[in-house]
Amino acid sequence: MVKNKITLTGIKADVGSIGGHLKPSQKLIDTVDEYVHKHQDNLIKDYRISYTGDDILILLTHTGGVDNERIHKLAWDAFVQATEVAKKQGLYGAGQDLLKNSFAGNVKGLGPGIAEMEFEERPNESFLVFAADKTDPGAYNLLLYLAYTDPMYNSGLILSQEISRGYEFKIMDIAHTKANKTIRLKAPNQLYEIAALLREPMKYVIHSIFANYNQEQSVAVSTTRLKSIAGRYTGKDDPVCIVRVQGVFPATGEVVAPFELNPLVSGFARGSHCGPLMPVKQNTTISYFDGPPIVSGMGYSIRQGKLTEGVDLFDHPFWEQIRKRAVDKTKMIREQGFYGAAMLPFSELEYNQGVVNILKNLENRFKIEN
Ligand code: F6R
Ligand code: MG
Ligand code: MG
Repeated sequence: MVKNKITLTGIKADVGSIGGHLKPSQKLIDTVDEYVHKHQDNLIKDYRISYTGDDILILLTHTGGVDNERIHKLAWDAFVQATEVAKKQGLYGAGQDLLKNSFAGNVKGLGPGIAEMEFEERPNESFLVFAADKTDPGAYNLLLYLAYTDPMYNSGLILSQEISRGYEFKIMDIAHTKANKTIRLKAPNQLYEIAALLREPMKYVIHSIFANYNQEQSVAVSTTRLKSIAGRYTGKDDPVCIVRVQGVFPATGEVVAPFELNPLVSGFARGSHCGPLMPVKQNTTISYFDGPPIVSGMGYSIRQGKLTEGVDLFDHPFWEQIRKRAVDKTKMIREQGFYGAAMLPFSELEYNQGVVNILKNLENRFKIEN
């Protein structure tokens, strides 16, 4: 049998942006595009460059498999090249996601967010790529949980024999930084265990999802946490997620449906607040309160590694209403400023030195009363 193995790799980084953390300059995007174009080797089949907020996404299709050194190095070098341009242009946060300054074979654990999967290309392979800014990898937890386990969103779970077999979730404990610490749980049998983990999105993150019917991979999420790499907060991790759809996987519409919920996620202003995730068109910038957290989504077809033009999943009248709802939710949570659920717990604050000092100074002034 002829094998048609293809790898999809999405690598995303903030290497500088205009006017604060708003968007990369056109020159930056062109630099990444030109670099990838010029340095394509025989592994690479196709690529696309886009941005979401202040992050640039390189989407590559290739035959090199996951964790491929040549592919990762190409993306890394493109971002390094762009960083030089960012410095020349005086862009803000030039090179901020390139945390280690030498490449050691694999961009995992270095800085840029990366999601990738290798699979046997179906004759009508369809997939989606989501890119989020001002949030972290746990932002996809609820959305994917609903799309892969809940018949309220995924009608295939009751209408299709193959889909009704459910899905297997690989979940990662991202607080464990020494090595990958993961667990595999199957829905629907282990649904409550899955939910119990996913309810804590800052620690447990969906890494990938597989169809129980044939063990085929449907989802890959970037699980990089800059905090874990740097040992302190340097910025939010702005995750990318690749989803193969249709057939034994959820339909495209079933995957995008939960995005109507605008779940509250972490990463709003100073990476230290909670805000609703707003589905936006590709190449949308950042604005209100350095946010709100945004997610873009593109749909592609692919044949022997060659991509069609992308379809913007959230460029449709339906999502105008959802964006308005996200604004309402944003205003609601912003009404309580720094208080309670509006600001993230202490361990998640991107900037905590100020608070640390205030609390330290006050500690001595407390009195123990009998
Ligand atoms: C960056 C972000 C922003 C920054 C804020 C302060 O992703 O969310 O809210 O944290 O603009 O940025 P600095 O500390 O770089 O001045
Ligand atoms: Mg940034
Ligand atoms: Mg960003």
